[in-house]
Amino acid sequence: MQNMTKDPKQTISGAVQAAFSLVLGNQHKDADPVVRLSQNSKFGDYQINGIMGLAKKVNQNPRELAEKIVEAMDLGEFAQSLEVAGPGFINVTLTSATLVKLCEEMDIPTLGILQSNDSHPIAIDLCGVNVAKQLHVGHLRSTIIGDSLARVFERIGRRVYRENHLGDWGLPIAKVLENLLSTGVDLDTISIEQLNTAYKDAQFISKDDVRGLETAQNICAGPHRIIELEEQNSGALPAQERAKTTLVRLQQGDSDLLSSWQKLIDCTMNEVYISLDLLNVKLGSKHNRGESFYRDRLGDVVDKFVDTKLAQEDEGALVVRFKNRKRPLLIRKSDGGFIYATTDLAAIYFRTQELKCDRVIYVVDARQRDHFKDLFDAAALIGWNKTPDSTDVDFKHIPFGSVLGENKKPLKTRSGSTVTLSSLLNEAIARGKAEVTRRSEDEKSQTYGMSSEELSTIGRQIGIGAIKYADLSNDLVSDYVFDMDRMISFEGNTGPYIQYACARIASLLEKSKETSFSSSIIVDTPQERQLVLVLLQYGNVVQSVAKHLEPHLLCLWLHEVTVAFNSFYQACPVLKVDDGAIRGSRLRLSELTRRVIVDGLDLLGIEVPKKM
Ligand code: ARG
Repeated sequence: MQNMTKDPKQTISGAVQAAFSLVLGNQHKDADPVVRLSQNSKFGDYQINGIMGLAKKVNQNPRELAEKIVEAMDLGEFAQSLEVAGPGFINVTLTSATLVKLCEEMDIPTLGILQSNDSHPIAIDLCGVNVAKQLHVGHLRSTIIGDSLARVFERIGRRVYRENHLGDWGLPIAKVLENLLSTGVDLDTISIEQLNTAYKDAQFISKDDVRGLETAQNICAGPHRIIELEEQNSGALPAQERAKTTLVRLQQGDSDLLSSWQKLIDCTMNEVYISLDLLNVKLGSKHNRGESFYRDRLGDVVDKFVDTKLAQEDEGALVVRFKNRKRPLLIRKSDGGFIYATTDLAAIYFRTQELKCDRVIYVVDARQRDHFKDLFDAAALIGWNKTPDSTDVDFKHIPFGSVLGENKKPLKTRSGSTVTLSSLLNEAIARGKAEVTRRSEDEKSQTYGMSSEELSTIGRQIGIGAIKYADLSNDLVSDYVFDMDRMISFEGNTGPYIQYACARIASLLEKSKETSFSSSIIVDTPQERQLVLVLLQYGNVVQSVAKHLEPHLLCLWLHEVTVAFNSFYQACPVLKVDDGAIRGSRLRLSELTRRVIVDGLDLLGIEVPKKM
């Protein structure tokens, strides 16, 4: 690829590995040299940390081995010095010419991100809202993590299907529909809150065995499975029976019932779209492919498992068994009904065999871990772990953690109810607006004198950016405490801190009155050096987010680049410097930093206000 900038780390690693081969023999050519950006410039630009480990393995003195490796390494003009330090580290300092060349090469529209030529699409299963229920914070995580991963894959040139696997079919929906129709509510004017209440009522009407449900909640994951178990526990209650009849009528295509069903969907989704819009995610009606989409494919899926003898009867039900565990996967109930897992198998078939995706990523909370393990294993048994052109499919469940309140328990409102996503977003927006309004009162502020409307837009960008950054900057599988004060702060590892740096650079560039920033880059001071070293990592950071599915790596890096820029800006005058060449170089570095940060924040789905 010509438009690729190699992170110097790769060049250094390559040279170390070649030296391993020369010094220790070919069998060591792939040992990891563990090259890291130095934390302190007195240790050079990069440190090679892997020699000690290798020395132990080959039973040599680490320092002596390091000397031999340095001797054998050939970095030509790339590096200025290679020095053995401490017990066997090697410090590498690059020549300024190398840094200038790489930095100028990166200053192109792709910003040094290698473009993939893999033509298989990727499916990302995200959001997954349930009809008749309001979005809550769990959906926030699924939606923004999934959207960010989708953006990253698109950025490296992959085609992505964002799949919103709505819970819009099956017994839970039939229950609420039956309940609403029996109470005679007007479905044309029903609000989402009423719908949500009706949903809860409907699910609990048929619940007579509290213990049964508790067991279900303890051992199972997700509303669907709870309902499935609840159903088994509570026996054939009248409400249950009526819901089943409703479901059968729906499945048979009863047009009145289908039109009522559509009204529930519209009411739910209208509310959902408002939140998605506020969240600045690329998710809309065209990404909806819910459970109902698969409703006519379920019989076929089950037949495929029966025909290949992968499914067996078990007390009238149909299950898929696995060699290494007792827990089977239920794919058809004893009454002939299909369940959540059946639909998910149909979705796997569709995604791998029809859309031909070679990667399917499920951003669904940790409680559904077993469900996805079973699904992926069942898919492998039947061969849907290969696309039709025999490419291996990589299935991944991202079992993200919970959002906790200050008491370290799942986030709840003061009265103890679940926090709805819309209330959370509105609060963040109000906080963002209050913060930017307060700052705008200072005459020196960029936002001084702005209209309330402009401040509202910026406030929304700050508030939403704060929430998203705080969420994505955590290791995905960990729980985290929702702390609005910390998230919205302009200091620390926060979204607003990074957004603010960007706005400051924009105003610096504006003040320069330049229109193009193409002077030669000069890397002279330690701060310029550090900024360039960090900038050069961008392409690799984006690739590793795609590889490890960890957006927090990008957040960490964005914070690092912002810190590096702020030190540069403090130490190196830009507009006030007399030398035109240095001024031009610093302006170009500032503009490149701004573009990289805007691009990186965009991969997180975070907007950058022009002024803050
Ligand atoms: N609607 C589901 C729930 O709330 C989430 C859907 C996740 N996606 C999937 N393919 N199962 O539990």
